[in-house]
Amino acid sequence: MANFAVLGFGVVGSGVVELFYKNKKHIEEKAGTEMEVKKILDLRDFPDSPYRDKLTTNMDDILNDDSITVVAECMGGVEPAYTYVKACLERGKSVSSSNKELVAKKGAELLACAAAHNCNFFFEASVGGAIPIIRPLHKCLAANDIHEISGILNGTTNFILAKMISDNMSFDDALKLAQENGYAEKDPTADVEGFDACRKICILSSLVFGKHVYPESVYTKGITSLTLEDVELAKLLGGAVKLIASVKRLEDGRILPSVMPTVVPFHNMLSHVDDVFNAVMVNGDGIDKAMFYGRGAGKLPTASAVLGDVIDEIKHERTVFSQMWADAADQSFVAPIGERSSRMFVKISKAEPEKITQALSEFFRSQNIALKAKVQLAGMHNDGCIAFFTPAPLTMHQADQLAAALSADEIHVCAMLPVLD
Ligand code: HSE
Repeated sequence: MANFAVLGFGVVGSGVVELFYKNKKHIEEKAGTEMEVKKILDLRDFPDSPYRDKLTTNMDDILNDDSITVVAECMGGVEPAYTYVKACLERGKSVSSSNKELVAKKGAELLACAAAHNCNFFFEASVGGAIPIIRPLHKCLAANDIHEISGILNGTTNFILAKMISDNMSFDDALKLAQENGYAEKDPTADVEGFDACRKICILSSLVFGKHVYPESVYTKGITSLTLEDVELAKLLGGAVKLIASVKRLEDGRILPSVMPTVVPFHNMLSHVDDVFNAVMVNGDGIDKAMFYGRGAGKLPTASAVLGDVIDEIKHERTVFSQMWADAADQSFVAPIGERSSRMFVKISKAEPEKITQALSEFFRSQNIALKAKVQLAGMHNDGCIAFFTPAPLTMHQADQLAAALSADEIHVCAMLPVLD
């Protein structure tokens, strides 16, 4: 018999309890033992809940109950989740967490704490909602040298972008709908400004490259400054604008994580990931590419990942060492954004095509970059701006120089987005 507790009875926590009791028999078969939710911690009252007898407002009821061996943390935020999770691990209780902020900020410390107390800190639900990605990265793909990951890691922003593009819905209405569906964070700034995706790419980077990557080290830009015109021009050039979180290992061994609105060419499968779905593309030397796809947010999809960890923790008696990384006070292994290199989507004020071509030729000559392709301009027949993809990759630093060079030729750059090549 195994008892577990649930911390937080909000969207995810209530989903964990609901899915557990819906599939209890099947879950117990997988775990190899009978199971029960013994306690649910929440400060709020739920007088009409069928689980009201299990509810407590006192964390000690869980900490001091030796029959509770596993705890599902679904509270969100760093405190009090950090204090509670640490206290559980120190008592040898394994924890399954859906809390990406907690893992991104305190992951190395909590993993070390779990190892010191011979239990586990698992967090499959913290990245990609329902998508299995943490376990595949450190188990199934462990034989690979993984050098790049790129993905759509925030369901809310992907949902908003899809609603704006396909249904002509306003940004505010689409956000409201995402909140009603239980996709958005308590403070949706974390979604739309890219902080949520940043926390998730920190977790994947730390897991794959073995050192804790802190959110402050990651260049992060959200979707709030995107316009419908950006999206339409990108479409004319053959791509979809997505909030892409990525990390790449550079030749010198440093890594470059970032979160940015990015134009994804239609031949790349990530361009077709819509609605609340997330996807993660992993590049490794053995596998070449593998893509993981599924619902990135929502009550039961996230609960599915939390419960998967709970079942695994009930079956595991010892710490799983493949899912660990080292703390890293020195973040110099993270390269600055100026070094990130890709083709760029450039949106400019209208100008004569010859003038644009000439300004670009001069700029690329000044950078000693040979131009192999001709520049294709999109939007020449519209009233607003026009756009093009740079015919060769540029670092972000060079892209700033390009904007300055165009501006010197009285061509105003209205927006620049990287292209996912
Ligand atoms: N707010 C998050 C999202 C929830 O929209 O992806 C899942 O982590």
